[in-house]
Amino acid sequence: MTEKTVEIKISGKTIQAKVGETLVHALWAAGMAESVKTGCAGGVCGACTVTLRYSDGRQGGTELACMKPVEAGMEIFPCPVEADEPVMPVAQPELSHLKLAFPTLDRCTKCGSCTTACPMSIPVMDSVLRMQKGEFQAVAEDFTTCIHCGLCRFVCEDKVKPHNMGLWLRRSLGMSREMAIEKNEDLAEQEWQYLLATNREVRLERARQFRQSGRVEP
Ligand code: SF4
Ligand code: SF4
Ligand code: FES
Repeated sequence: MTEKTVEIKISGKTIQAKVGETLVHALWAAGMAESVKTGCAGGVCGACTVTLRYSDGRQGGTELACMKPVEAGMEIFPCPVEADEPVMPVAQPELSHLKLAFPTLDRCTKCGSCTTACPMSIPVMDSVLRMQKGEFQAVAEDFTTCIHCGLCRFVCEDKVKPHNMGLWLRRSLGMSREMAIEKNEDLAEQEWQYLLATNREVRLERARQFRQSGRVEP
């Protein structure tokens, strides 16, 4: 039985794709692997982010090419997002540290483009406003599912760099907790035993409490 194929376009060039395969697989099969960046090929790293246009008038948007199945008439445009220089995290981060590391924080004009662009439906603009108020725990939660595709940075006219700040805050908060554990070896051993023995939901709840209080409750 022959497999059904559809036509899709990548940057204006038409290729044939098998129904049911992802955009990345279609590009690989067409010998065009280099037209879209790939890393994990599993929806985690964000390297393969593309924008899409549909032939039937449906609104397109951003998608991960390694997760998105092909559809007849779909047009794909790769996003040329380059990596940004990493900024060292700091333990016990405060608003002054964040502003020093990212002086553009206060330039946000609340245009909302970053939220619209995010393929992971993260409320990026709201999170930038939380950063401005120093609500870092909430920001860390917001960016839990960030795949660092860089689109929120790419679309921001004011060069605010939301995901870089989100990552910096998550690393800084993580560094603070790591230092708290390192000061107490018994505590580290207790934690390890606890993680091995406890069910997932209880572990998650305890991790949330730890993140909020900075302490391991007995
Ligand atoms: S795109 Fe930039 S300016 Fe617009 S809301 Fe997001 S961070 Fe603010
Ligand atoms: S927050 Fe920014 S970098 Fe993270 S997934 Fe959304 S658009 Fe991509
Ligand atoms: S290649 Fe990593 S998310 Fe697609």
